[in-house]
Amino acid sequence: MRSQLHPATQPCPDRPHWAPRWIVEDGRILGAFALRHNYDDLFGWIGYGVRPSARRRGVATWALGQVLKEARDALGLDRALVICAKDNIASARTIERCGGVLEGVRATRLGPQRRYWIHLT
Ligand SMILES: CC(C)(COP(=O)(O)OP(=O)(O)OC[C@H]1O[C@@H](n2cnc3c(N)ncnc32)[C@H](O)[C@@H]1OP(=O)(O)O)[C@@H](O)C(=O)NCCC(=O)NCCS
Repeated sequence: MRSQLHPATQPCPDRPHWAPRWIVEDGRILGAFALRHNYDDLFGWIGYGVRPSARRRGVATWALGQVLKEARDALGLDRALVICAKDNIASARTIERCGGVLEGVRATRLGPQRRYWIHLT
């Protein structure tokens, strides 16, 4: 499995910038993840998704690990806020597998959201 940079990587000055990457295996796209380049208290630093046919194989855990390394090495972060919907058990488990510590659940305009912090050492 490897990650491949999406071409849309140039920062856009007026909008929050994400660096999207595909998750690729044998030429097939399994999903995507992205690191936000600005702190966002509603969405956190990171987003990811895995196509249904590739789920429950550890793909998201691998991808989140990759993006956390990028957050440390490219952005110099020492911890990252990762957020998911309160009832998104798959995402919550993925974050917890990568060391996420629950700060709490916050009511937002998107509904109740779990807020996790991951230390990047
Ligand atoms: C969340 C998502 C990315 C997880 O992808 P994945 O590749 O299936 O995750 P992994 O295989 O790495 O599994 C990580 C953990 O979640 C658990 N898990 C995955 N899917 C699950 C499900 N449907 N129900 C319960 N647990 C689940 C796995 O068992 C594993 O935990 P474990 O090691 O303790 O058993 C995927 O379900 C998805 O794309 N969902 C839709 C988009 C989304 O919600 N993105 C995140 C937004 S914050």
